[in-house]
Amino acid sequence: MTHPHTHEHHPHSGQHDRPGHGPAPEGDTGLAEILDLDAALGAPVMAAALDAASRALDAAPHSVVDLGAGTGTGTLALATRFPDAQIHSLDASATMLDRLGAVAASAGVADRVRTHLVDLDADWPDVVPGAADLAWAALSLHHVSDPARVLRQAWGALRPGGVLVVTEFTGATTYDPADLGTGRDGLGPRLVAVLAAHGYPVTAEWTADLGAVGFAPVERHETALTATGRTTDGARYLALQLSMNRARLTQDLSAADLAALDAAIASLEARTSEVVLSSGRAFWVAVRPAGDEAVTAHDHSDREHADHEPTDHADHADHQHGTRR
Ligand SMILES: C[S@@+](CC[C@H](N)C(=O)[O-])C[C@H]1O[C@@H](n2cnc3c(N)ncnc32)[C@H](O)[C@@H]1O
Repeated sequence: MTHPHTHEHHPHSGQHDRPGHGPAPEGDTGLAEILDLDAALGAPVMAAALDAASRALDAAPHSVVDLGAGTGTGTLALATRFPDAQIHSLDASATMLDRLGAVAASAGVADRVRTHLVDLDADWPDVVPGAADLAWAALSLHHVSDPARVLRQAWGALRPGGVLVVTEFTGATTYDPADLGTGRDGLGPRLVAVLAAHGYPVTAEWTADLGAVGFAPVERHETALTATGRTTDGARYLALQLSMNRARLTQDLSAADLAALDAAIASLEARTSEVVLSSGRAFWVAVRPAGDEAVTAHDHSDREHADHEPTDHADHADHQHGTRR
């Protein structure tokens, strides 16, 4: 990083009582580990999204914003794929940003990564340079209180011709074998059904919202993500995820199902499980049309605000690349 965390912290204003909603709880290292494992297992998803972003961009990006950057798996992939880019990584969790800073340092890209402890439900465009080439929001947009506002702000933070990539979970989840290797018939489908009743996995569809803001074209892609107990990362990921889900579902599953779940987790931890989880990811690649400098029918106050120079000029004095075009 060219700078330690900037301290433009805005109080978190939204209501965060939906499942998977709000910033990551501070000190939740289990969540951080799951995010890192998710990225390791989802490397093909990341590669597909980066490929699609590259195709949509008219030039190699110099300025990138990572919205809800978490542990920095996206930031790192972006910094690696786009070696001329300065990445601005935004998150409301200091724990996540600390981890991101350490990852960026050990990957040798700290000079091109700047962290910003900031709430996406506030005026976050004020803390990043305007006219970004690429904005990236992986598994984060569903967390905010007003996603449509964040999309409008992202529009305003991009230059004409700039690209926004949004990633989310899709609902499709299956376990093979369906008993998770426990002999308890139908355990997997029951687990999926009860989680769905609680709103997990948190899915979202952004095609219409992106179009309403004025992004065009908007591409939607869907890819599969699998995790298997046969690999070290897969076994750890599945054990952590099942443990987290078990804690959510103690009131919903029978004692026999909970005991079977415990056995499945123990088997994953002992590396004797061959269970396979299949799930899905969707990603959108949305372009702010070139030549739209004149604000159009999609005009709104957030965009007007975001289209202006950032107010925190001193904070940006050390940028390596000009971000205004
Ligand atoms: C599921 S994690 C995804 C992290 C990362 N993008 C990834 O793909 O691994 C969501 C991240 O968004 C952050 N977040 C959620 N709500 C936020 C908000 N209102 N403002 C800033 N960050 C937020 C959380 O702290 C968390 O780090």
